[in-house]
Amino acid sequence: MTITTVETRGQTLVFPDGFLWGAATASYQIEGAARDDGRGPSIWDTFSHTPGRVATGHTGDVACDHYHRYADDVRLMADLGLGVYRFSVSWPRVQPDGSGPTNMRGLDFYDRLVDRLLDAGIDPYVTLYHWDLPQSLEDHGGWPNRDTAYRFTDYALAVHARLGDRVKTWTTLNEPWVAAFLGYGNGVHAPGRTDAADALRAAHHLLLAHGLSTSALRSAGVEEIALTLNLSPVITHGAGEADAEAVNRADVLLNRQFLDPALRGVYPTELLEIMERRAGLGHIHDDDLDVIHQPIELLGINYYNPTYVIAKPGEPADPAWPGSEGIGFDGSDEPTTAMGWPISPDGLSSLLVRLSHDYPEVGLIVTENGAAFDDVVVGDQVHDADRVAYLDGHMRAAHAAIEAGADLRGYLVWSLLDNFEWHDGYHRRFGLVRVDFGTQRRLLKDSALWYRGVIERNGLA
Ligand code: NOJ
Repeated sequence: MTITTVETRGQTLVFPDGFLWGAATASYQIEGAARDDGRGPSIWDTFSHTPGRVATGHTGDVACDHYHRYADDVRLMADLGLGVYRFSVSWPRVQPDGSGPTNMRGLDFYDRLVDRLLDAGIDPYVTLYHWDLPQSLEDHGGWPNRDTAYRFTDYALAVHARLGDRVKTWTTLNEPWVAAFLGYGNGVHAPGRTDAADALRAAHHLLLAHGLSTSALRSAGVEEIALTLNLSPVITHGAGEADAEAVNRADVLLNRQFLDPALRGVYPTELLEIMERRAGLGHIHDDDLDVIHQPIELLGINYYNPTYVIAKPGEPADPAWPGSEGIGFDGSDEPTTAMGWPISPDGLSSLLVRLSHDYPEVGLIVTENGAAFDDVVVGDQVHDADRVAYLDGHMRAAHAAIEAGADLRGYLVWSLLDNFEWHDGYHRRFGLVRVDFGTQRRLLKDSALWYRGVIERNGLA
């Protein structure tokens, strides 16, 4: 279903009362302080320090130095009027070796951060895993090793034991598709391995980690649990049956591989066939799907762009998409962001409506949406009109989805700050706030000032 959002451009739109507005970040992308207070190495430290892995050899050693500047950053959030701040906890700060005793000094940081946020009237949304796996767990096999899911559950409980009296909303994983298929499939992300079978096993074990930690957190009394997925409507410009089959298979690989087990307790049949062929099914134990299928309150949606495919006979599988033989990844004629990603707000509305229809038991929240552009600083200002237009268009799309019946509760911008954009290093800027990585000076971009107005009026002018 496509909902056209263009027609509301320039119209005033008001969101439902209590709609949540916020912004998101992730530990390795902003914290820096890579060796402070007993933090152990993560796979992203190892990867970024390996020549050739990250553009220009950038690392997260210092990043936005948020570890030391968090109080100022919370002041910025309060200044913008954010209701929610979504951040992730760095596992190797809490368990430097990925298991065993808790490093209290690492948890102290999140304790201080949560208190600051609450004092400023901002609701802390904690993500437990945003890709910084402790290196020692990778040395024991990483996510392709089933044991990592159990280690993750211990870690989740350790964080909850410290923050659970104040943090109400807990997200287990961020974008397990990326962690599995870019980390172990095409190797563009840490740990940089390239093995289709390992990537498929990693995906299953990430889901298992979600299920195990969800039931553990539930037993510990958590009332609001979320899973955040990178979801993208799959579209074809082809009209043939083979094109429709390519759309269905790409949708299975990207979206339903995670949605169906987590929210329905089943793997799509097409996926089971692919898994059997590429990895065998030995890593899926008898009651795993029951463990994975836990009731959760929120599905977090990270949306950036649709995925365009076309049938392409003879095309080999893309290493990040085991099972994608015969699928060509196609372009579109939409304008793109600095990432080269097509700009399509309608993709967000159709995605939200579809999710509400197909998975009606779970509430929806956009946990990431935003854009990188080549910002230009003029004196003390950044006139990022293209980012404002991107956000305005996508918020209109979110509003259209609500009108069409989607149970959307909130919208969080990626990102609060310019930060370490993984293998692109600091070259891609997604922030509402400009960061000068030489001086650590922060500058509110025009988009931040504009967003403050959106939040104030709970709507678009
Ligand atoms: C999704 C990821 O969760 C985030 O870490 C990343 O920076 C953004 N996409 C932009 O690529």
